[in-house]
Amino acid sequence: MRVASPASDPYIPHAMPTSRSKPAPDGWGEPATPGAAPAPEIDDPGAPPGRRRTDLIVGASPVMGRILEMVAVAARTEIPVLILGESGTGKELVARAVHYTGGRAARPFITVNCGAIPETLMEDELFGHVRGAFTGAASDKRGVFEEAEGGTLFLDEIGELYPSCQVKLLRVLQEQEVRRLGDTRSRKVNVRVIAATNRDLGRDMADKRFREDLFHRISVLPVTMPPLRERREDLPLLVDHFLRRFNRELGRSIRGFTPRAIERLKAHPWPGNVRELENRVKQAMVMAKSEVVDVDALALFSGSAGGGEFPTFRKAKAEFERNYVIQVLQACGGKVAAAARLAGKDRKDFYDLMKKHQVDPAGYRT
Ligand SMILES: Nc1ncnc2c1ncn2[C@@H]1O[C@H](COP(=O)(O)OP(=O)(O)O)[C@@H](O)[C@H]1O
Ligand SMILES: [Mg+2]
Repeated sequence: MRVASPASDPYIPHAMPTSRSKPAPDGWGEPATPGAAPAPEIDDPGAPPGRRRTDLIVGASPVMGRILEMVAVAARTEIPVLILGESGTGKELVARAVHYTGGRAARPFITVNCGAIPETLMEDELFGHVRGAFTGAASDKRGVFEEAEGGTLFLDEIGELYPSCQVKLLRVLQEQEVRRLGDTRSRKVNVRVIAATNRDLGRDMADKRFREDLFHRISVLPVTMPPLRERREDLPLLVDHFLRRFNRELGRSIRGFTPRAIERLKAHPWPGNVRELENRVKQAMVMAKSEVVDVDALALFSGSAGGGEFPTFRKAKAEFERNYVIQVLQACGGKVAAAARLAGKDRKDFYDLMKKHQVDPAGYRT
């Protein structure tokens, strides 16, 4: 772990006080602020196996403070947790935090992406099979429930789970036992299930795509991850966090981002949330020609996070429009009438623009 840079460095974003009342048991959830407790090291002798130094949850916004409180409650108990939120908001990170700060930390944490496995293989993946259960089943195979014994099974994208598997999963959760495909007996399992989805399960239930009984079983404590655009104040901390990590990984010694670059990042809509920010910071650090990253290295108009190719004109225009609307609103402290005047638009047109790009002026009120 690099030694934290002095807080007086103008390019290191300033720490913001966390709203969390009690510190997490072992420093987890601490923001990576200069002088704060270091993130857990992979090779930290006290760390449970599997815990990674990248597992630190960074954030000082009130909403992230509440999330950290819920993580602490979930870790102390065995309450079924359902993590909701857009892609890249930190759902898996939260699931790992619950596992690695809870009583099951020394046991396995296993992730299954319910959307990535074809229906015919999903049951096999979850519950396993015995030899001869189907053509090609040459030997017994344990499913992830058995693999995760004593630990946590993270069912990612649970909204994508096939209806046939939903029924079977519900039964396993109720009975606490699994039956391998082709087996005649059931086996007891002791596994905590944490589920996540970016889908609107309320609508899926109304459409009969997701079982209500399963929903109630898995979502006793729902944790909703806010999109990054709704907690822009966390951005400097996150940038600082990724900066340290990538300096280490890339063998660079970049000191920070200019205030102008941070402002530019704050104005970006972040459809890919923290994952997108992470990629952009890395990309900018690779591109940076000096030890301080300025706007020229940000490439915020490239279509994908990885490449420098051109977006379509339509996409670039939409992105420009949205950033423009946000910046004008910021300049006017969220006052729509003033923002419309500044932009030379009539109020109705400006409202239409805000609506089109889903910009809420309330977020920019000062
Ligand atoms: N609050 C946060 N602090 C630090 N890193 C974060 C935070 N939220 C997300 N990340 C990082 O962003 C990436 C995406 O997070 P992930 O948990 O995989 O999101 P999701 O499961 O919601 O798609 C990961 O590399 C994760 O470590
Ligand atoms: Mg994920």
